[in-house]
Amino acid sequence: MKTETTVQSLNAALAPARLARKTIGFVPTMGNLHQGHLNLVLEAKKLCDIVVVSIFVNPIQFGPNEDFDNYPRTLEADSQLLAEAGCDVLFAPSVQQMYGDQPRRTAVVVGEITDVLCGRSRAGHFDGVATVVTKLFHIVQPDTAFFGQKDWQQLAVIRQMTRDLSFPIDVVGVPIARAEDGLALSSRNGYLTDLQRKVAPKIYQSLTDAEHALQTQSSLADALTQLRASLTKAGFEIDYVEALSPDLAPVTAFDQDIVLFVAAKLGETRLIDNLLVKYTEH
Ligand code: PAJ
Repeated sequence: MKTETTVQSLNAALAPARLARKTIGFVPTMGNLHQGHLNLVLEAKKLCDIVVVSIFVNPIQFGPNEDFDNYPRTLEADSQLLAEAGCDVLFAPSVQQMYGDQPRRTAVVVGEITDVLCGRSRAGHFDGVATVVTKLFHIVQPDTAFFGQKDWQQLAVIRQMTRDLSFPIDVVGVPIARAEDGLALSSRNGYLTDLQRKVAPKIYQSLTDAEHALQTQSSLADALTQLRASLTKAGFEIDYVEALSPDLAPVTAFDQDIVLFVAAKLGETRLIDNLLVKYTEH
């Protein structure tokens, strides 16, 4: 695996693949990699000739009181995992390389769907994500890009942006990788104390309980109330518990496929999860 830290050297590394018209799969990440990220790499390997992974902790998607400075940076271990997973090129630029010294005046703002769910408590977050992913798309010029369903809203934002700005890129969503006890894998799980780690799987359990309630005729409102109650009882501070359509439109009843979304804090650590609940007519 090659590791490149500048746009110029990345271009040089990708030139032979471009010349040979090989397809390029791209997996953008912020590092501190776990099996969730590696599943994206494996999916990319299945569908593309060459796999490029970026590791860049993007300052402009973090709020002033968020964990940018403390975000885990584990480049050496990450490189090892990527090499083992069959990544061809790792792009790990500095903040200087991505944003330079001049003030940045242009942003990609995706609109409405960035205002709901995580957008409500993380102002500007999705503009920061859309802007950096646009830059990375221009730099890497992939044929296909891979994003996890763990961040369902982020995936929806990227799909919207890709369509709106006519990027010639297929966006592929990859299912959530979970620990054996159901907790969605996340770099932020490392912030949890042992005790909090024992409580954390309750999010997924509560989601599957809500799914069961919906499939056995409970109303959407009742299922959401039950979901909120079970999280509060377990000790979570709820940011949101909501049901929306898969493309993030409002829903009032379980009469179509819906996604249940949870964001909740255990101490200072904010965890998110979601579950697609399929509707089948009886
Ligand atoms: P990061 O949080 O590192 O996640 C990189 C990719 O891995 C995202 O597409 C995310 O959805 C996916 N991912 C994380 N945990 C996962 C899990 N348990 N199962 C499946 N996929 C999972 O998301 C970002 O970085 C950044 O916002 C980025 C897109 C790189 C822009 O800076």
